[in-house]
Amino acid sequence: CLATVTSVAAQNYPSKPITMYVPFAAGGPTDSVARLTAEAMSKSLGQQVLVENLPGAGGTIGSSRAAQATPDGYTILLHHIGMSTAPTLYRKLDFDPTTAFAPIGLVTEAPMTIVARPDFKATTLAELIATIKAEGEGITYANAGVGAASHLCGMLFMSAIDKQMTTVPYKGNGPIMTDLMGSQIDMTCDQATNTAGALKANQIKGYAVTSPERQKAFPNLPTADEAGLPKFELSVWHGLYAPKGTPPDVVAKLTSALQVAVQDPALQQRLDAIATFPVTKDKATPQALQERLNSEIARWRPLIKAAGQFAD
Ligand code: MLT
Repeated sequence: CLATVTSVAAQNYPSKPITMYVPFAAGGPTDSVARLTAEAMSKSLGQQVLVENLPGAGGTIGSSRAAQATPDGYTILLHHIGMSTAPTLYRKLDFDPTTAFAPIGLVTEAPMTIVARPDFKATTLAELIATIKAEGEGITYANAGVGAASHLCGMLFMSAIDKQMTTVPYKGNGPIMTDLMGSQIDMTCDQATNTAGALKANQIKGYAVTSPERQKAFPNLPTADEAGLPKFELSVWHGLYAPKGTPPDVVAKLTSALQVAVQDPALQQRLDAIATFPVTKDKATPQALQERLNSEIARWRPLIKAAGQFAD
């Protein structure tokens, strides 16, 4: 009978490698969180967790593929705050983030940083804002597509300063960082996960971090609030999902492995260095992720509608 088959499958799970989809390009912040988490989870699962990048459309292409994957525990998805903005940003989304998945748990939180190419003339946030106000669409702002964290931060930033720039969409902040360091684009707002290294090495210019406190990974960078954008706060949370219909026993094994991972001192240390923070064990649970997703969808809907930005 089906119940017996299901529980036998769960008992032997995992008996082969697991694929973790990342809905952005390799070399970016979501990819970094995924690779470090996958490595830590592999240890306790006794099987490899392999990362596969499925970039495009601000994370919605990879998420849609994950929602349609066979719900057997061998395909999972790591995605961020964009899971909660997509239902408002996209008029036609072919999956409902609140029901298409079996949540596994929250993974990390990281602030964002407002940054520019290394030779950009502005040196403070006030100068940056003055430059944008003077030059407007003459300044290029890179983001990872509608639904990306860099899109959300850019939208809020442009709305806060009441001036638009020319948006240049990419498949992820990995390629954006390459072009930013090479001065192909002017600026972006990206997760600390992806900018901490380049900020420390002075390969890019930093203006502000979107956390309420400064970060010890780059203590000289002021908070947006300190630098002149009051209450400009944004924390990018990542969550791990299985397709809906994945057997509960299998989801429970993935949650346990995630809980071991977020408590792994080696993982914590590597993420700490890039101002990225694994959640506490009680947040690495299906319930905490479902609650966060639901509350963030409700939180962002009116703000996105007010900013008036939607995908086609
Ligand atoms: C990425 O990994 O490229 C990002 O998370 C993109 C973003 O959302 O800004």
